[in-house]
Amino acid sequence: MIGDKKDKFYFLYERERIKVEKKLEQLLQDRKPASLYLPGSYILRGGGKRLRPLLVLFSAKAVGGKLSSVYNAAVAVELLHNFTLVHDDIMDNADKRRGKLTLHKKYDVNTAILVGDSLLSVAYENLLKDCKDNIKPVLEAFTKGLVEVCEGQSMDKDFESKKNISISDYIVMIKKKTAAMAEMCCKIGALLGGGSLKDIRALANFGENIGIAFQIQDDLLDIIGDEKEFGKFVGGDLMEGKKTFLLLKAFEVAKGEDRKKLQRVIDRKGIKLDEILVYRELYKKLGVLDDAKTEIKRYTDKALMSVQVLQNNTDREFFTWLANSLIKRSK
Ligand code: IPE
Ligand code: IPE
Ligand code: MG
Ligand code: MG
Ligand code: MG
Repeated sequence: MIGDKKDKFYFLYERERIKVEKKLEQLLQDRKPASLYLPGSYILRGGGKRLRPLLVLFSAKAVGGKLSSVYNAAVAVELLHNFTLVHDDIMDNADKRRGKLTLHKKYDVNTAILVGDSLLSVAYENLLKDCKDNIKPVLEAFTKGLVEVCEGQSMDKDFESKKNISISDYIVMIKKKTAAMAEMCCKIGALLGGGSLKDIRALANFGENIGIAFQIQDDLLDIIGDEKEFGKFVGGDLMEGKKTFLLLKAFEVAKGEDRKKLQRVIDRKGIKLDEILVYRELYKKLGVLDDAKTEIKRYTDKALMSVQVLQNNTDREFFTWLANSLIKRSK
């Protein structure tokens, strides 16, 4: 979950999260063929923070819209997100997601490919339900998010075998694979809520910057996370030879033997299971875990700057709470 029970906004987030959860639960229940929708329900039942639908809901609310008019759109972005996760897990050879077997491990790769595709199509089906006269900009935003996530995922895979990737290349890649969708969620919420151009821009900017912070933190949790909490295999990025923020930052500062050790991750296209601890220690020694935290904070602060234009004090406070709670997340 996001935040702490003692927080003022915790139950507000939870209340809406549970509503989204219920909608998702019922969504594929009676659809056929079961060979497609049962595995689809498997991934949707897995839980997750439901951050993206909550961004849609609270962006709509922040511009004066009604929560009740954007639940289908909220469900749509979660479906789009789950589509990316199912395909991402095939591409990343991941066995665990949300504490359970990944879809292609539980079933098979062909099922996972098709379930991913169907989640995306059902996403459009749901999004259309909440579109009225604003259908064109909403569909444009949604489609842009989808195009970018594919481009980002392609860059992520390309980077695995590329030398000389810089931190700025990495930022371009994560803007596409992760931040574009967070930006899209805020934009769609603000559009459907009938926001002004200024508000739409401010919220989209918030989404993009928390998205960047979110991915750097995901890279960080992939090495310092608690596997039970995180729900994914810890060390997976190093095993796959991913050009994460940590690896790239480590390359910037390492010398001598340390540098050779990092070079081995690239030359051997990833490390072995029993080497993960060695690399975690190296990251600690090089100070890159702290560098990541600094960067996460910097992008979070950027996000917070952009929501200062919102009219309502409670909305500003909510987004501040949300962004700061994401920094403290363990999953
Ligand atoms: C995982 O997203 C994919 C990334 C962009 C890092 P989340 O961390 O939001 O996953 P769930 O939906 O909460 O499981
Ligand atoms: C996020 O990158 C990818 C998506 C767009 C789904 P990761 O590959 O790091 O995501 P996780 O860690 O598997 O959730
Ligand atoms: Mg990936
Ligand atoms: Mg992955
Ligand atoms: Mg990751």
